[in-house]
Amino acid sequence: MREIYEPKFVEKLFDNMSSSYARMNYITSFGFSNRWRRQCVEELGIENGKTVVDLMSGMGECWKYILKNKDEKSILIGLDFSTEMVKRAEKKILVYKECNIEMLRENVFENSIADESADYVISGFGLKTFNDDQLEHLAFEISRILKPSGKFSLIDVSVPENYLLHIFYMFYLKNVIPILGRLFLGSPEPYKMLGIYTQEFGNSKNVFEIFKKSNFEVHYLDYFYGCASGIKGQKTR
Ligand SMILES: C[S@@+](CC[C@H](N)C(=O)[O-])C[C@H]1O[C@@H](n2cnc3c(N)ncnc32)[C@H](O)[C@@H]1O
Repeated sequence: MREIYEPKFVEKLFDNMSSSYARMNYITSFGFSNRWRRQCVEELGIENGKTVVDLMSGMGECWKYILKNKDEKSILIGLDFSTEMVKRAEKKILVYKECNIEMLRENVFENSIADESADYVISGFGLKTFNDDQLEHLAFEISRILKPSGKFSLIDVSVPENYLLHIFYMFYLKNVIPILGRLFLGSPEPYKMLGIYTQEFGNSKNVFEIFKKSNFEVHYLDYFYGCASGIKGQKTR
């Protein structure tokens, strides 16, 4: 496996970026990241009293949208393998102390979430660091975790196909983001890596093809002219 897709490599990258991730994520998505998270969560139409699993949850950036429709029976399970991101997520749990949130520090490919225990699975910006084999494994895990007819919605930043947007985006990714990384983190290297992942990821069309092979009904989604893309779907059996 190429080193950049090795779990240990990715885990270390996010451990290193955790202190600047929130700010950088906002800037690198041109301020769109929260809007995209909200839209991605809204695709699920979450009902009260249900169990939601947030995979590659980071510090719980999607939680304020997931927890909009909650009651005392609602359960939210966050999962991430970066110790530093999880530490920050655990602090966030204290902010939502009236909610039933559990945070797992686990690799998604070796997770302890029970079979058919989730009504919904979501993931915000957690796809680009996976290769095809890992995406296939992710589809398997989401299918295993979801109850029959359970729904999922996944999103990540993408390279837009529109010519002008593409030129601008690649310039931004390769030249501006590393400078911002040096400014906020003291080093451009981790954010250069995010650029490499995004460039290799392209958009979610490949994710769509991989998930279509599993027991899901799947739809492809473009967000803001393809600057982000994702898939949503439902388990069919
Ligand atoms: C770009 S961040 C996204 C965080 C958050 N979901 C958001 O909306 O900003 C990707 C997260 O996925 C986590 N991650 C990557 N590969 C993982 C794996 N195999 N298992 C668990 N977490 C993983 C990283 O530690 C990181 O926190």
